[in-house]
Amino acid sequence: MIPVLDLKREYQDLKSEIDAAVGRVLASGGFVGGAEVAALEAELSAYLNIPYIITTGSGTDALFIALRAMGIGPGDEVITTPFTFIATLEAIQHVGARPVLVDIDPQTFNLDPTLLEAALNPRTKAILPVHLYGQVAPMREILGFAQAHDLKVLEDAAQAIGARYCAEGCQRNDLACDCHNPQAGTIGDAGAFSLYPTKNLGAYGDAGFIATHSDHLAEESRLIASHGQSSRYHHIRAAGYTSRLDALQGAILRVKLPHLENWNTHRREIARRYSESLKNLLQTPCEAPYAMHIFHQYTVRHPRRDLLAEHLKTRGIGSSVHYPVPAHLQPAYGDLAPQGSLPQAEKAATEVLSLPMHPFLEEPQIEAVIAAIRSFE
Ligand SMILES: Cc1ncc(COP(=O)(O)O)c(C=O)c1O
Repeated sequence: MIPVLDLKREYQDLKSEIDAAVGRVLASGGFVGGAEVAALEAELSAYLNIPYIITTGSGTDALFIALRAMGIGPGDEVITTPFTFIATLEAIQHVGARPVLVDIDPQTFNLDPTLLEAALNPRTKAILPVHLYGQVAPMREILGFAQAHDLKVLEDAAQAIGARYCAEGCQRNDLACDCHNPQAGTIGDAGAFSLYPTKNLGAYGDAGFIATHSDHLAEESRLIASHGQSSRYHHIRAAGYTSRLDALQGAILRVKLPHLENWNTHRREIARRYSESLKNLLQTPCEAPYAMHIFHQYTVRHPRRDLLAEHLKTRGIGSSVHYPVPAHLQPAYGDLAPQGSLPQAEKAATEVLSLPMHPFLEEPQIEAVIAAIRSFE
């Protein structure tokens, strides 16, 4: 079987370093926060080139806490995409606000910024673009719209750690551009990242973090994530929360972070191999001119998607669907938008298929995936 993802293989590669890191934490007797987590925050801050990193218990918490830190609450509306993992919408609901959905671009699967105007009203307070599959959403248009209407922008960078963006329209590999190709999740007011095990940088449990340039959002986020506490047993914000990173996760992530750039480069190479061979057979992922995609998922489109998935399965090849039902067609979210109102997301949900993608895929496995798709009639 060629799995979509192979976390056991990744562990084997790093076993001695990870085992040593885990042993170090167990021997230290400190399990929540502490030196490992502080060091990880500093290393993420250097990697992403942003002053503040606030680790949280998950990516969902990072989204929710950042929205609260921005002051979004009951009566407010937040514009986002229906074609995402449900956590994006849950975070908006957790602060008491209402998600307002706009349709996606059928090529990139990211929010279509030309539709923002129609979703705007006096209750709109923020935009929450998702960098789906590891490709940055069109941030120049989104930020321009947000600035014109005094809206906050929270990036859902759960799937996009290490992805780059070029505001000036240079080519993605031209690192000489004046925009310095900022990292996904560092472009808006704040970015929320997931470190769930399957992500490009994954913990061995739930984990996430907020990235921001803002002193105010950093301070508020830290307070909210830890019981509204300014110092031990002094609570200056009501209704705080317990959302902190374990020292074990911090230590494990510190082993993995130095490998992330190489892993992402390798994913891009595998994506290039797939796309060269498959481009005449189905819709391969589109890399926007302003984006450096890190292929958290390598997602193709095919009108007979379910038959293709079945065909791959019979040949021992895993695949998965992200996502089979857009948010507004979920039983719990039917009040957000009627069926037929977000046609691109609805169609994409019936056609997308993610192929095996991880940095440890070997050449014969890549060839087997390509051959299996070629043999699909
Ligand atoms: C787009 C998106 N947003 C939010 C999340 C939530 O992250 P977590 O699972 O760490 O809570 C995820 C990941 O699962 C995601 O893919």
